[in-house]
Amino acid sequence: MKISVIGTGYLGAVHAAGMAELGHEVLGVDSDAHKIAELAAGRAPFHEPGLGELLARGVASGRLSFSTSLEDAAAFADVHFVCVGTPQEPGSDRADLRFVDAVVAGLAAHLVRPALIVGKSTVPVGTARRLAALAASAARPGVAPALAWNPEFLREGFAVEDTLAPDRLVFGVDDASSEAVLREVYATVLDRGTPTHVTDLETAELVKVAANSFLATKISFINSMAEVCEAVGADVTVLADAIGEDARIGRKFLNAGVGFGGGCLGKDIRAFRARGHELGVGQALEFLAEVDATNDRRRQRVLDLAAARFDGDLVGRRVTVLGAAFKPDSDDVRDSPALHVARGLHDLGAVVTVHDPAAVDNARRVAPQLGYADDLGDAVAGAELLVLLTEWRQYREADPRLLASLVEDAVVVDGRNALDTTLWTAAGWTVHALGRPVSAPVWNVTPFVETASPVRQEEAVA
Ligand code: UGA
Repeated sequence: MKISVIGTGYLGAVHAAGMAELGHEVLGVDSDAHKIAELAAGRAPFHEPGLGELLARGVASGRLSFSTSLEDAAAFADVHFVCVGTPQEPGSDRADLRFVDAVVAGLAAHLVRPALIVGKSTVPVGTARRLAALAASAARPGVAPALAWNPEFLREGFAVEDTLAPDRLVFGVDDASSEAVLREVYATVLDRGTPTHVTDLETAELVKVAANSFLATKISFINSMAEVCEAVGADVTVLADAIGEDARIGRKFLNAGVGFGGGCLGKDIRAFRARGHELGVGQALEFLAEVDATNDRRRQRVLDLAAARFDGDLVGRRVTVLGAAFKPDSDDVRDSPALHVARGLHDLGAVVTVHDPAAVDNARRVAPQLGYADDLGDAVAGAELLVLLTEWRQYREADPRLLASLVEDAVVVDGRNALDTTLWTAAGWTVHALGRPVSAPVWNVTPFVETASPVRQEEAVA
């Protein structure tokens, strides 16, 4: 099939390459000429495992090409996937739909034959039906496009896998012919027995925001438990393991730490809540405000712990932040908890050095006031405090003895519960993991934590 994918960000670039991999002829379109030049050369413009290979293969096969023109897309394809961003509107919690609107209206105006426009961007419920009317009014007579909604559930870091082998497909359609086109697009995936839900436009839009709201709620739930654990000296990781054994609860997304970030969960729960108010069901979604607030408190908690380490005064203290990306295997720093905390430490007067295996360039662009180091050893050398905020494998597998020999003080705040505390403590580190009792070497009688379990402190003294 001839397919266009409009918007080649974290979602669209992978979708375009994935569609070509499934055998379609694909034109990726974006207004960013630099990004398009990179993609056309078969190079991934951002860090995503496996994407470079997929792009190179697609471009070499001749099935994957790129353009900056919506007119090209209209002339080339019969199915158009809309993958542009829906960021938070400045000054409000609502989604900013101006990019989606512009693409749908612009594309429809250029159409020369009937086509199917398929929305993939995350939008407030009701948007698809409005866009269908917008497309119909922008198109020339006789070529009014059909519109469907096919939400995307891919996770950054696993985007290629999630695109080629999704765990489910959702087709929001208004008519049988749109469903038939989508079934043809995804024939290879459907043949593997992938669960598929065919529904109306509104349900399809809601599936996406409901899924992200549930994930955010699950994370904030375990982070609320972490707060309680901190108050009584309990261990949230054991608690998560134990409740996670119950198949009705499940262990996934119960990793307590500095909380969620990125370009999706935060802005999606805010936009959903705002939409709920517009629909007169604000109360039903009010809990999402608490989910958001709990998430913010975790960032503050890390700042408080760092300050407590220096009796409340961070001025001039050398703090190394491990991680800048909002999660490992990504260079995405949008609403990154790591960068948020790093900035906060800087604002409190600390001399901050940030290390990240992939996200330093992006981080430097948005937070030029921070110090950066490309090499892990250089980053930690002379540090008075380490703060781990993105659980890259490189950090989880780092040798704590070697790191201890490089820092000035072997004290770490583990903001992701990523470190093996037994190993790190044996190597001389005082480990302050969120939601867990402080773990200090037996010879260190003064762990800096203010909420340490009395039992553990006695143990430390003993
Ligand atoms: C999320 C959803 O997981 C995808 O299904 C969805 O398609 C995507 O948003 C989207 O809307 O486009 P993503 O933003 O890539 O995917 O990241 P997640 O893996 O969901 O992680 C989000 C944040 O939650 C990260 O900062 C991560 O560190 C944090 N997290 C995750 C936790 O703090 N604890 C956990 O247990 C899991």
